[in-house]
Amino acid sequence: MSQASLTALRLAAHVDRLGLEHPPIDLASVDYTVRRPAELNRRYGHVLDYMARVELEVDRNVLELTTLLPDPPEIDRRFYAEVWQPQETRHGLILDELQVQVGRPPAEADLTSVGVKMRILGALAHLPAFQDVCRMLYYLTGMATERSAVLAYNLLHDGVRDIGEEAVARTVIAPIRRQEPGHYAFYQLSARGLWAELAAWQRWMVRRMRSLSFGPVGANNDTQRADFGDMLATLGIDRDVEAFAAQISRVERELLWAHRAGLRVPPYVATAFREAVEVAQARLIPLRG
Ligand SMILES: [Fe+2]
Ligand SMILES: [Fe+2]
Repeated sequence: MSQASLTALRLAAHVDRLGLEHPPIDLASVDYTVRRPAELNRRYGHVLDYMARVELEVDRNVLELTTLLPDPPEIDRRFYAEVWQPQETRHGLILDELQVQVGRPPAEADLTSVGVKMRILGALAHLPAFQDVCRMLYYLTGMATERSAVLAYNLLHDGVRDIGEEAVARTVIAPIRRQEPGHYAFYQLSARGLWAELAAWQRWMVRRMRSLSFGPVGANNDTQRADFGDMLATLGIDRDVEAFAAQISRVERELLWAHRAGLRVPPYVATAFREAVEVAQARLIPLRG
């Protein structure tokens, strides 16, 4: 059997399994009991807000996706429509409800605006060879996003538990983080499969476009970049941003930058994370002064 049909079989089995084993989290299973709401808000409120927003913005991501990939393979469509969007939307609703419970306003999610760049890419993607370039970029974004989510939820889970918020750790964060590795696995399998099929010019274009367009998840303007930097600081990731950047881009480095021996992190990933930490610090200074 060819490598391509093997990947297709594995992807189909993976999506089937995710659908069966990971239905969207049952809202009735969530216990919003918070022992010290003000303390949870002070420590982690802005992290809950950031994550709730990113999770809720999957509705916009799906719009972007249908613009970017006008004619997606059936397995991609099944994954995002039947597994990914229903799960992520539920994550967003639960985190948003939690932040409201601790006295914060709900997240301001942008659910509808598809950017100009995305529409231009979408127009070009009607050419099948270019659609494959766009698909590769989509898988790379998916990998980085889902890996970031896993790592962040791990840290948030332990942080929340350590301040004594057992119910939140056990019924909010733990069930959410359990669903993220399956998303990551889908993108990783897809990325490896597609990369093997791309021609040299397509690979060149993927590297080029990725270098120009990479951004941390949910950080689409300076305020959101600073919010992202704040979140990194709260979770303690700012102490070793390079290591975090390396973890979320490991497979990307392996595929796109295999010819660059000794490269630990794709430079655009390291730069983006470092900059987020810097804008967050710069934003704090006027407050202190
Ligand atoms: Fe999620
Ligand atoms: Fe996810």
